[in-house]
Amino acid sequence: MGFLSNRHLLGLAETPKEDIEMILQHASSFREVLDRPIKKVPTLQGKTIVNLFFEDSTRTRISFELAQKRLSADTVNFSAGSSSLKKGESFKDTAQNIEAMKIDCIVMRHPVPGAHIHLINYVNSVVVNAGDGTHEHPTQGLLDMMSLLEVKGKLDGLKVAIIGDITHSRVARSNIHGLVKMGVQVMLCGPPNLMPVNIEELGVTVNYDVDEVLEWADAVNVLRIQRERQGVSYVPSVREYRDLFGITRERVERLNKQITIMHPGPMNRGVEIDSDVADSENAIILDQVLNGVAIRMAVLYLLLGDQPEES
Ligand code: CP
Repeated sequence: MGFLSNRHLLGLAETPKEDIEMILQHASSFREVLDRPIKKVPTLQGKTIVNLFFEDSTRTRISFELAQKRLSADTVNFSAGSSSLKKGESFKDTAQNIEAMKIDCIVMRHPVPGAHIHLINYVNSVVVNAGDGTHEHPTQGLLDMMSLLEVKGKLDGLKVAIIGDITHSRVARSNIHGLVKMGVQVMLCGPPNLMPVNIEELGVTVNYDVDEVLEWADAVNVLRIQRERQGVSYVPSVREYRDLFGITRERVERLNKQITIMHPGPMNRGVEIDSDVADSENAIILDQVLNGVAIRMAVLYLLLGDQPEES
């Protein structure tokens, strides 16, 4: 069962380049399905997928559910806040009780980095990581690559800047692993105290001057300040952050070129990105959201789809 090298999708660090290419190719075909009057194919008929969300989400949760429905899978949503976890049931018992109902796949978002490693030890279902703490968000990395490919026509040789709180960003980590494998030059920028030590070992460069970074880049992926993952505030003043690292209208207007603007959402308008920039014609933020459905269709199909029987 499945067409990818790994049985689960836990991160892009361990996903081979060939698998990334296969996912992007299939996502492009599924993207066409989304433009049809009837946006549904029978590909995963008879498969049951549970969306296990232990952390809030708008885009990822809805697009996984839509992707499952577009592929004709049966889909069930679990929210930690309204479950028996509130009565003291453990993570292991929760996962094993859900699996006892004969399911094929669990899509999980969890605030703890590496929570998916525990899950695959507890269940036999295919597991897809929908974001684990500060570790990885592989389908976001993939949809960002698909969106870049759509607007730029290629990934190899492209210059992409990722600006913001790199330390706490699973989006940054998945983007770095995926983009570097695909031959993209990646430059990171953000407050020095939110830049991981030795991050260059992942094949990226670091520059703390946002204006220089914007001059260099073909596209910029803007991250938000993730106060909920920081524990303490690493950014003393929102105004100072905007002055030093914000993608402001003035900064973009000073450039002698067009630059593609990306943001994984949710956005803090007026902090890391100005509304004028987020809503400009160079911004592909809503295209990223739409491509998220196509990417998740491709991932689920390639993990759960049946290989043709040999004659
Ligand atoms: N980009 C992203 O993961 O958004 P959500 O938290 O709304 O799912």
